[in-house]
Amino acid sequence: MPARSETAALPALFLPCGQGVEPLLADELKRLPALAGTTIEPWRGGVVVHADTVDQVPLLAMHCNLESRLAQRVLWPVAFGEYRNEHDLYALARTVDWSAWITPRETLKVDVTAARSPLQSLNFAALRIKDAVCDALREATGERPSVDTRRPDIPLLLHVDATDATLYVDTSGEALFKRGWRDDKGEAPLKETLAAAMLAAAGWQGRAEDGALLDPCCGAGTIAIEAAQIACGIAPGLQRRFAFERMAPFRAVLPQWQQIKQAAKARVHAPTVPVFAGDVSFRMTDFATRNAERAGVRHAIDFKTGDALQRPVPRERGTLMLNPPYGERIAPKGRGQAGASDRSAREGFEGGAESADFFAQLASHWKKHYTGWTAWVLSPDAKLPSQMRLKESRRVPLWNGPIECRLFRFDLIAGSLRRTAASDTPPAG
Ligand SMILES: C[S@@+](CC[C@H](N)C(=O)[O-])C[C@H]1O[C@@H](n2cnc3c(N)ncnc32)[C@H](O)[C@@H]1O
Repeated sequence: MPARSETAALPALFLPCGQGVEPLLADELKRLPALAGTTIEPWRGGVVVHADTVDQVPLLAMHCNLESRLAQRVLWPVAFGEYRNEHDLYALARTVDWSAWITPRETLKVDVTAARSPLQSLNFAALRIKDAVCDALREATGERPSVDTRRPDIPLLLHVDATDATLYVDTSGEALFKRGWRDDKGEAPLKETLAAAMLAAAGWQGRAEDGALLDPCCGAGTIAIEAAQIACGIAPGLQRRFAFERMAPFRAVLPQWQQIKQAAKARVHAPTVPVFAGDVSFRMTDFATRNAERAGVRHAIDFKTGDALQRPVPRERGTLMLNPPYGERIAPKGRGQAGASDRSAREGFEGGAESADFFAQLASHWKKHYTGWTAWVLSPDAKLPSQMRLKESRRVPLWNGPIECRLFRFDLIAGSLRRTAASDTPPAG
């Protein structure tokens, strides 16, 4: 978060997100009615939401936790300043009135992230922050809170760069990609936040003009379920709990939290557009179906087990959105036999040359049957367009954890290929 921006003196929240997602997250937050009147500033690795007064921060944090599909967490900065060593970090943490946050009967945990920090040990830095909180409480009450690394009442996050440290209270607790519906995962599931970033980068918002969405290699169903929740107006955080629900500064507004959740439930509606999904593996379609059930969108997704190379077009126009099987993580399966069993499917494409063949066949299937559709394909392989013998019209850099990927856009135009080359474009915000 910007420790020295012009607005840094104002009360603020910092919402970290995946690299490249910052403008999309800023755009998502600007569309939230509850954030009207705040200043929303994309920053490196996240977005800052500036409020006018500290009193506004708890309500803003509640709305951000409930509504953001792209943020990883919602962090409330409580101290920042320059530091050179762990003593400075201890002194920084002592500037906070911890008795407003935690009692000796509650628990805490300190995580540390660093970029170009001169510190020798981040564990020791975490220990000094913990000591500062415990010493402050002991001086105020005679007792110290204890540490709980699994489910702390107050999760703290210290971020240190070369010269500055920021100490945050993490109002989310568990990371926001954990929506509470994905129990069945499969082999290479996308994080929910990345699936949502793919949809956002494509500008797909579930509006009638966005049209149908299809993921023919759906795995655990992450992309289709995120899309269906958008199409049904379901807030991503509606099915989970947040750390702020146990925090003292939020107690006064907890009745409003119940109203905010009720209002979000009342907004849920029938799907505005159809969502289709499938996988060559029956096991995966079954997982995805069960996840969709838990996410409240089973009725909004048409699942079919089958080979993407043979999948009939479900509508005249629409958006294909997928992260296809790739290389060593998951080999493409199937030789075009719809409904192939997992075993016979596994005997099909196995990566390498066969993988390139899979993509060439996929593209030729799309060119024959999906003209008028737009395909968005996430891949770590820069050569994907040449393997597909398609020219991409856009290329958005996105990170799948530590793996740098591109989200390629292909406009499926009858008979011919687009000849215009794309250069990397930042996600539109
Ligand atoms: C990288 S995973 C997709 C992960 C998914 N996005 C998720 O979040 O769980 C690729 C999926 O493609 C499926 N697959 C492989 N070959 C296929 C084919 N020919 N047709 C349809 N699905 C296929 C695999 O079974 C696997 O579940």
